Amino acid sequence: MHNEHWVFGYGSLIFRVDFPYIKKQPASITGWSRRFWQGSHDHRGLPHAPGRVVTLVESSGEQCAGMAYLVKEHVFEHLDHREKNGYRRVDTALLFDDGNQRQGTVYIAEVDNHAFLGDASLDEIAAHIVASSGPSGHNIDYLLELDVALKQLGIDDAHVSQLAQLARDINTEDK
Ligand code: SIN
Repeated sequence: MHNEHWVFGYGSLIFRVDFPYIKKQPASITGWSRRFWQGSHDHRGLPHAPGRVVTLVESSGEQCAGMAYLVKEHVFEHLDHREKNGYRRVDTALLFDDGNQRQGTVYIAEVDNHAFLGDASLDEIAAHIVASSGPSGHNIDYLLELDVALKQLGIDDAHVSQLAQLARDINTEDK
């Protein structure tokens, strides 16, 4: 159908699905890794105290697994608004878990966007996440919900699971 389109989610689009879709299917894209390198001024942080959320960074040969949704074209208006803090739409090849391939769209916050924070040690990123919150909730909830959602999909992402463990440890120490 010409007005139906696949969109690939690798972060909050996996665990917070606030848009209508026709169907969803686990999929992956090649050449990218999921990293908590993007600042969030509008969802999990504030303009003067951004939180940290995921973007994709170019990683030759790596695969990033997530969830693909078949949506009507109008859904992109909502998604563009939701992902407005530095993300742009990028065309990508999707490899579905059943072996089929399709073209789709993924939202990526690239290194030159105004909210990009970039790399830091896992300890620093975890501490930053534990300390942040914004209009969509606590930043740690984004991290832990993503960690759970990836595990439920059978996706092993060391960056996310190590950060989740570090953040839980900091939270426990603080009590
Ligand atoms: C995505 O989930 O695909 C984009 C990043 C995010 O909104 O967390």
